[in-house]
Amino acid sequence: MAVATLTGTLTVNAAFLQEIKEVNQELWQLLADLRHRCQRPIAPGQCRQLIDKLCTFRDQLALHFSLEEAYGYFQDPVDVAPRLADLAEHLRAEHKALYLDLCDLLDRAERMFYEEQYAALALWIGPEFVDFDRKLRHHEERENDLIMAAYDDDIGVGD
Ligand SMILES: [Fe+2]
Repeated sequence: MAVATLTGTLTVNAAFLQEIKEVNQELWQLLADLRHRCQRPIAPGQCRQLIDKLCTFRDQLALHFSLEEAYGYFQDPVDVAPRLADLAEHLRAEHKALYLDLCDLLDRAERMFYEEQYAALALWIGPEFVDFDRKLRHHEERENDLIMAAYDDDIGVGD
């Protein structure tokens, strides 16, 4: 039996997605700053300020992901290369996983802070954020690949 309702395949609007990434300099600047701090030893007395900065980053990242999902991704009624559609589905779904990861990190950091485990927190939080940063960067790299693939697909030099 044929598929009765086909609403389209997920793909990206390459130009919009690229622009959302380019205009969000505040987010990338904050990320670079956090990366710099978290790759070095953290003094227990710096934890509160670092957690607050991470909270700001979490909120900006949530906004960034929702902009990407609202304007960068869309259901294309026209045929999309399956490879591209699969990657788009995968990367869009990663937003939620990444965001929840960061929320967990912050939850745990706040708990340690209120339990006054400052020394343990100072040791734990840096490597934890570096690990998150690595996953986020991987996501961004693959999304940039997706943008390039979508451009290629548009001009017909893809598969
Ligand atoms: Fe993304």
